Amino acid sequence: MNDPTGTTTVHQHSSPSLDPDNILPEDRILVLDFGSQTAQLIARRVREQRVFCQLVRHNLSAERIAELKPKGLILSGGPASVYGDKSPQPDPAIFDLGIPILGICYGMQAFCQALGVKVEPGLSREFGRTRLQVVQPEELLRDLPDEFVAWMSHGDQVQSLNEHFETLAVTSTCPAAAVKHKTKSIYGLQFHPEVTHTAGGSQILANFVNNICGCRGTWTMSSFIEKEITAIRNRVGDKRVICGLSGGVDSSVVAALLAKAVGTQVSCIFVDNGMLRGGERDEVERRFTEHFKTDLHVVDARNLFLDALANVVDPQEKRKTIGRLFIDVFRNEALSIPDAQFLAQGTLYPDVIESGSNVDGPSATIKFHHNVGGLPAELGFDLIEPLRDLFKDEVRQMGLELDLPDDLIWRHPFPGPGLAVRCLGAVSEDRLKTLREADTIFIEELRAEGLYRAVQQAFVVLLPVQSVGVMGDDRTYENAVALRAVQTDDFMTADWYPLPHDFLSRVSTRIINEVRGVNRVVYDISSKPPSTIEWE
Ligand code: XMP
Repeated sequence: MNDPTGTTTVHQHSSPSLDPDNILPEDRILVLDFGSQTAQLIARRVREQRVFCQLVRHNLSAERIAELKPKGLILSGGPASVYGDKSPQPDPAIFDLGIPILGICYGMQAFCQALGVKVEPGLSREFGRTRLQVVQPEELLRDLPDEFVAWMSHGDQVQSLNEHFETLAVTSTCPAAAVKHKTKSIYGLQFHPEVTHTAGGSQILANFVNNICGCRGTWTMSSFIEKEITAIRNRVGDKRVICGLSGGVDSSVVAALLAKAVGTQVSCIFVDNGMLRGGERDEVERRFTEHFKTDLHVVDARNLFLDALANVVDPQEKRKTIGRLFIDVFRNEALSIPDAQFLAQGTLYPDVIESGSNVDGPSATIKFHHNVGGLPAELGFDLIEPLRDLFKDEVRQMGLELDLPDDLIWRHPFPGPGLAVRCLGAVSEDRLKTLREADTIFIEELRAEGLYRAVQQAFVVLLPVQSVGVMGDDRTYENAVALRAVQTDDFMTADWYPLPHDFLSRVSTRIINEVRGVNRVVYDISSKPPSTIEWE
């Protein structure tokens, strides 16, 4: 179903925080998403100008766009060719709305075609950095050098303009690298200003958003928080809100926001599924009492999960078992709370976009993820999703403004199925204990060495392998563990991190000396792809 912004979503209940006339700031830019890998990045870059920006479907009607009152439209790039059978097209009426438009790559070709400029089919793709010469340093290219490096990725291109358009910049192979309509506020770029390889890309977007669209740059996190708080108060009234806590950043930020908005009407539920890391449950309880002072329900379901997982070896089965049990346990606890009408979830903007804008059909399922954010609509609560307009780094910023501690804000993500997918093969209490102890040492040492923030995720994996060792004069035949530490921007791809040898050596010595049952430590030097971050 669609939310009021026109962003396609899969959620049953959409938050009134998206009501364009209620909470959103009036200066808003919409990105019409033609399927580019960098469409989200455009939104991020515009938000860096303190202007609120959202992705919408490429074919959102001009009527709906007019209702949303954006100050500007950006037509993103996309993988299609305007010559393709079903090439995505914008509603042609958007060119008469009088709202400034910036077309990027395919977005430019799409409006050129719609406005009578011939787009030549590409004989080969141009991909990578290219030098651009500015011909007319007017509004869009103001304050940029005469020549700069831009990043291209296209096949088709415009060779010659018609009488309505003029050229702003060229490259040696592209005579219309930046163009402008002579009478309307319509601009096009054959290159991508949103990627960092384009020197001055941010300046170009700033010129569009500020000078051409007239945005005032007033979107700040504190104003966003204030508006969210008002929206939550109005919506919740005197009812009760339930919030699932996972111990991670997103659910903690949601809890902090709710606590601020409707403090005593919030009940948080934390399920101990027995797959948590060392000290995690105590940590969540301690933090909670320090920071939120609202009702907390800790459900001890360790035995239930352990029993259900006793003979489960297949990773997907583990995930499904944990996901199913989690929903049961959560539902039972939630239903025991009187007056509960709302359920708050830490859904983020990329989740909303990814679950809805699958232009080419679903991509291959590599792992069937389960997390706290994924409670089904059948639970019967009305959803509150206060983070659904935010990117991850904006959530962190919100957390900082809500006074959450630094170490929580920068905590590595932890998968919903927890240690079950790091304890390869069957899960048992003993094996989990071994894994927990080794993991605690690794993380402790990373923090002590100041390396915790240099990597985005680090953990220990308990292998289903026993190997021979020697301790004192005795032969041992015990477990092997693997250390994993990766650097990544988005967790879709990742590189293994070159931890210093002396550091690895110290961690290995400590684990083998201090954790009973481990006599071998290896370091995982695989990147994603072809490996994944988790081993299961
Ligand atoms: P992979 O292993 O797919 O992991 O490279 C990418 C990111 O996703 C996390 N992950 C999960 N998160 N439920 C979750 O909530 C899951 O089932 C799950 N599996 C992997 C993983 O920790 C990494 O951050």
